Amino acid sequence: MTQNTVEKTPVTLLGLGAMGTALARTWLAAGHPLTVWNRTPARAALLAAEGAKVAASAAEAVAANPLVIVCLLDDDSVGEALTGIDLTGRDLVNLTTSTPAQARARAEWSHAHGARYLDGGIMAVPPMIGVPEAGGYVFYSGSREVFNRHQQTLGVPAGTTYVGQDAGFAALHDVALLSAMYGMFAGAAHAFALIRKEDIDPASLAPLLADWLVAMAPAVHQTADRLRSGDYTKGVVSNLAMQVAGTPTFLSTAEQQGVSPELLTPYFELMRRRLAEGSGEEDLTGVIDLLLR
Ligand SMILES: NC(=O)c1ccc[n+]([C@@H]2O[C@H](COP(=O)([O-])OP(=O)(O)OC[C@H]3O[C@@H](n4cnc5c(N)ncnc54)[C@H](OP(=O)(O)O)[C@@H]3O)[C@@H](O)[C@H]2O)c1
Repeated sequence: MTQNTVEKTPVTLLGLGAMGTALARTWLAAGHPLTVWNRTPARAALLAAEGAKVAASAAEAVAANPLVIVCLLDDDSVGEALTGIDLTGRDLVNLTTSTPAQARARAEWSHAHGARYLDGGIMAVPPMIGVPEAGGYVFYSGSREVFNRHQQTLGVPAGTTYVGQDAGFAALHDVALLSAMYGMFAGAAHAFALIRKEDIDPASLAPLLADWLVAMAPAVHQTADRLRSGDYTKGVVSNLAMQVAGTPTFLSTAEQQGVSPELLTPYFELMRRRLAEGSGEEDLTGVIDLLLR
């Protein structure tokens, strides 16, 4: 070992699906000793050839290292894989997608089994793992101590963003961002449907759409500002009354183009309800309050 060589934290990884395999490769490439386990052993063969130690069972993998990272299909698979295994003294980092409630329950379950717990929500797809310029990162929540201790190791596959001691917060942030993404995809689907029957190349609309969405995205900062102050009329430039008055244009255009308005109407209905409450001078922030049950 040369004088400059730093000992790399050994990692145990349970789960070698598309995501687990991508994660594994980055730790191997960065020189972390890696022990892997997968329910279907054949999936570990390539990684073994790349230097990973393959455990014969999940229990053997967990026993190998204090840092245990789990990336399985869902919370049920995590329960199945870890049942009956001694987790005493382990730092369990669960990157399996789950709901906030599942993450909190898994944290309690882990504590009851002697482990410290950190939950993760991966904001990346496998090709973005190990490619810092791709901008992928992982939300972490739960044990601050585990996060601090392993931040460098956890930062090898993707960026790290710690969002709080509540183990459910990583999942909550993950789902919040992905929910917004689906809203964006829904809007883009409607836009493409509008031009679909016309002599307009979808490839000519795409860059216009992308630029417009990017230009509109910073509006979320004003929404946050209004939510914090409670004043939904602050700095409004396109008020709700004007926007609701414009909705027939969208619905008529959809009808003229032979496009179902089903992706637009639920949001327009919320805007109309908020206006009916006498909130015409606000922007669209009040819609958020209507969603709360
Ligand atoms: N892929 C993505 O784009 C992406 C992006 C963000 C987050 N994630 C999250 O990352 C996690 C893993 O995703 P993935 O893409 O790697 O999925 P995947 O390719 O479908 O792999 C699923 C993994 O879970 C294992 N598994 C399933 N049921 C199991 C059980 N009952 N007991 C033990 N192991 C079980 C599978 O083992 P076998 O090989 O034996 O089937 C495999 O290792 C998921 O929670 C996913 O939501 C994925």
